[in-house]
Amino acid sequence: MDGNGRWATQRGRPRLFGHRAGAKRVREVVESCPDVGVEYLTIFAFSTENWRRTQTEVAGLMSLFRMYISREARALDEFGARVRFIGDRVKLDAKLVKLMDDLEVLTQENTSVHLTIALNYGGRDEVARATKRLAQDVATGNLKPEDVDEETLPKYLDTCVLPDPDLVIRTSGEARISNFLLWQSAYAEYEFIDTLWPDFTKEEFARLCASYGGRDRRFGGVKT
Ligand code: FPP
Repeated sequence: MDGNGRWATQRGRPRLFGHRAGAKRVREVVESCPDVGVEYLTIFAFSTENWRRTQTEVAGLMSLFRMYISREARALDEFGARVRFIGDRVKLDAKLVKLMDDLEVLTQENTSVHLTIALNYGGRDEVARATKRLAQDVATGNLKPEDVDEETLPKYLDTCVLPDPDLVIRTSGEARISNFLLWQSAYAEYEFIDTLWPDFTKEEFARLCASYGGRDRRFGGVKT
């Protein structure tokens, strides 16, 4: 969800104004998922690198996340969204973690769309945390080193119950992946679009999903 800061600056407003506008765009996109055939949506809310921002911005974002979860929980549940969080919760404040846990429990039976919110998430950090747990299983004898393969490692990732992404959309004109779902996106299709996140609409989302539907994916093989 990139471009909130620039969106605010263009309007002569503080960066948090852009993050608040960005938060307002989320519901429309989530609720359009069943119409465009998207069962799993993952949104990148805060990266392991975002702590490097000013204390004011980080504190404002954390407070926005708490507000967003409290205010949107009911609507997300009524819509039938199953919400999950990925990322390292250790560095997050206890109040926020409690809201995240409660929302996961509240929505755990829902099926209309699987919404995953990446919060304090980094692909490298996720692989490092997964490897640590995997190594612990090897050390305790629960896993044999010779059994570690491409099927085993993803079971230790935060995304272990989620399918790999088919399409990754990055807003705001930047053509880089910035540590997002590094392992999982090995065969994802990418869309880099100029729209700043607060201007992103369900119509643009539908257009990108339709365009994805026309792509020829071979996963390294040849078309038969
Ligand atoms: C990146 O834009 C955006 C963020 C770091 C925050 C994203 C958070 C929200 C949209 C709030 C929604 C919250 C939830 C829990 C769904 P940027 O600040 O890097 O923009 P810039 O590149 O223009 O500076």
